[in-house]
Amino acid sequence: MKKFSVVIAGGGSTYTPGIVMMLLDNLDRFPLRKLKLYDNDAERQAILGEALDIVLKEKAPDIEFSFTTEPEEAFTDVDFCFAHIRTGKYEMREKDEKIPLKHGVVGQETCGPGGIAYGMRSIGDMIEMIDLMEKYSPDCWMLNYSNPAAIVAEACRVLRPNSKVLNICDMPVGTLRRISHIIDKEPQDLEVRYFGLNHFGWWTSVKDKEGNEYLPAIRDYVAEHGYLTQKEVDTQHTDASWQDTHKKAKDLIAIDPRFLPNTYLKYYLYPDYVVEHSNPDHTRANEVIAGREKTVFSMARTIVERGTSEGCEFEMGAHATFVVDLARAIAFNTHERMLLIVENNGTIANFDDDAMVEVPCIVGSDGPEPLSQGKIPEFQRALMYQQVTVEKLVVQAYIEGSYQKLWQALTLSKTVPSAKVAKEILDDLIEANKGYWPELN
Ligand code: NAD
Ligand code: LMR
Repeated sequence: MKKFSVVIAGGGSTYTPGIVMMLLDNLDRFPLRKLKLYDNDAERQAILGEALDIVLKEKAPDIEFSFTTEPEEAFTDVDFCFAHIRTGKYEMREKDEKIPLKHGVVGQETCGPGGIAYGMRSIGDMIEMIDLMEKYSPDCWMLNYSNPAAIVAEACRVLRPNSKVLNICDMPVGTLRRISHIIDKEPQDLEVRYFGLNHFGWWTSVKDKEGNEYLPAIRDYVAEHGYLTQKEVDTQHTDASWQDTHKKAKDLIAIDPRFLPNTYLKYYLYPDYVVEHSNPDHTRANEVIAGREKTVFSMARTIVERGTSEGCEFEMGAHATFVVDLARAIAFNTHERMLLIVENNGTIANFDDDAMVEVPCIVGSDGPEPLSQGKIPEFQRALMYQQVTVEKLVVQAYIEGSYQKLWQALTLSKTVPSAKVAKEILDDLIEANKGYWPELN
């Protein structure tokens, strides 16, 4: 079987060790000859890089492993770039969450003003990385799961329409795993129909391979428990704040019991509830800094101190096998069915052609072929149109350096109550994002 060269961009990410362990566990399906980490923060990446160097020497000495901050070294001779960068790191995530909350508005990584601020920071870095990849490895595919995926995907559509970039999100994958537990199946036994935007969509069908429909049974469960399941075996999305999010899905499904909602809809449909249940002095960023980041980086330091990973193993990011499935689909033309963020072009019949939507696609060597989802109801269509326009305005504001368009984007967000509040938040975000955002006029 052919062996591949992969670069993980955002090498210092808290997710990197989990992704590397998952890759090592999948070598029979997706063999590697080279694995590189790339980050623009040498110090942060080196902590994980040195530990992973030890892990690789112990577990897969045949794979050439390295970590670098040099673009040429990182992007030369690579077949796939797995991208999970966070422009501004947790320091800026904290501001994205806390500034809106100060104004009584949802403070979240990807939804509402926080997501808009993060998007404005990420577009430039993502485009620069795509250009580097194309310069040094023109045939390379970027599998991007950096957030805010909706805004990044729209920026790619507008600024690099012909680049080999696929945008994918782990939330539908994680929720499908929970759905499969509800009906005592495995996710790979199920085929779904789904429509929406990233972090903004609905399942309209969940069938097994024989064609039996499970949606009514799942709906009854979700109406009572949300996506809280007793059988959760892995460690993703298990913190208390996430349990609350899974549970809240019961109030999301109440609004339209025909479909199963994406959990992120809680920020748009129940923003008042979210604000009431947020602590403006301690947000998700603080939870992750004290939790996932601390655990991962202290384990890396321990491995380096001991000089071995024996008795101190990184946890495998089993949930992230979707990245390998996607790479395999391209590398081996597997025609696997996966949810991806792609340009609509009629996939949702009564929605704009140029909207980036999240829908099931068949993925092969030429990339994704979206599967038609037909017409969608008015309620969802109107919500989606409002949100996709926010995302488009953000990208336009970035390109044109337009204060006006960014103010419009914030005003249009369903999470923001008025143009006045939008402007107050925007002015605070501009101050906080100096050096990250383009100059706005
Ligand atoms: P993190 O801050 O721990 O890691 C991000 C890394 O990206 C940092 O080391 C940072 O230095 C680096 N970086 C920033 N800008 C860069 C650039 N221009 N070039 C190269 N490296 C750069 O963040 P995290 O919590 O681990 O999340 C990483 C990303 O993955 C985020 O965008 C997050 O939203 C997304 N995400 C991924 C998953 C998943 O399943 N893998 C799940 C949720 C979120
Ligand atoms: C994280 O854990 O940081 C991400 O999965 C998203 C979030 O806010 O929880």
